[in-house]
Amino acid sequence: MKVFLNKTIPQAGMRLLQGSTKVELIQPTSENLSKEEWLDYCRQAAIIANVGKNTFDKDFFDQCPNVKAIALFSVGYDHVAIEEASKRKIAVTNTPNVLSKATSDVAFLLMQAVARKASYNFDKVRTGKWDADLDPTEDLGQQLYGKTLGVFGLGRIGYEMAKKSKYAFDMDIIYHNRNRNHQIEKELDAQYVSFNELVQLADVLSIHANYSYEQENLFNRAVFEQMKSNAILINTARGGFINEDDVYEALTSGKIWGAGLDVTNPEPMKTTSALLSLSNVCILPHIGSATEEARNGMAELMAQNVLAFAENREMPTIVNP
Ligand code: DGY
Repeated sequence: MKVFLNKTIPQAGMRLLQGSTKVELIQPTSENLSKEEWLDYCRQAAIIANVGKNTFDKDFFDQCPNVKAIALFSVGYDHVAIEEASKRKIAVTNTPNVLSKATSDVAFLLMQAVARKASYNFDKVRTGKWDADLDPTEDLGQQLYGKTLGVFGLGRIGYEMAKKSKYAFDMDIIYHNRNRNHQIEKELDAQYVSFNELVQLADVLSIHANYSYEQENLFNRAVFEQMKSNAILINTARGGFINEDDVYEALTSGKIWGAGLDVTNPEPMKTTSALLSLSNVCILPHIGSATEEARNGMAELMAQNVLAFAENREMPTIVNP
């Protein structure tokens, strides 16, 4: 079966794909394809093994009628029109679990970086503004011990973030999710709250939900108005959740205290973004899953999904309902 892999993935996955007699691997001559070149490759294949943000919408499915399965190298699948794929019986798989620790590590890192003004302080060192004279009242951060973490989306990554925060800083955990999770509530003494309560009570609000376009700008001026003035907003999910003009206004007017973002809208963030001028933010270039362990796990899982489809077996992590 012809499989189009748009980018080379870590060895663990390449080995599986290259070692299979059921798979004929198509790889592009360049990794920077135009949309038309990319579509030309996709038209040749039955399975698309996709790294990155290419969009799989109705137009794509119309243009590539031979495609029968899409194996994503990501846990998020907001770039795939799942209903349309399901209607056409196109299987879509993602790479859950294997990146939960790595991505929640970045949320945890951002929470601490913002609480202790790490970007701002690093800039002081870099630009020669490190003043050796101690000023007991200047540039103070805040302590996380005993504060309340609000988790928006208590899936695998949200759970890992909650667990670290609970055990490292004895934080109280509140969460909002489509469904309650009684087991996690018990394990972490976590409390299910409404969306409004989450926003109003959290000292740190960390976004971990699956993103869909209906949730674009969910975190906007009206939400920031309700948050605590000491609140830190963390986003390692998708940039589209946050209205960036509104968060800028909230950060500069003191409605919230700081923000740590591993995802932005658009990506890459424009270097002219006003958010980059602020001292109470820490922004990273979408590195949530960027560890050797997570990327190897993602590569292996994507390859296992491809092989399962090629061998007519059940795909391990299918996302179609
Ligand atoms: C994911 O796996 O969804 C990460 O955000 C990388 O895109």
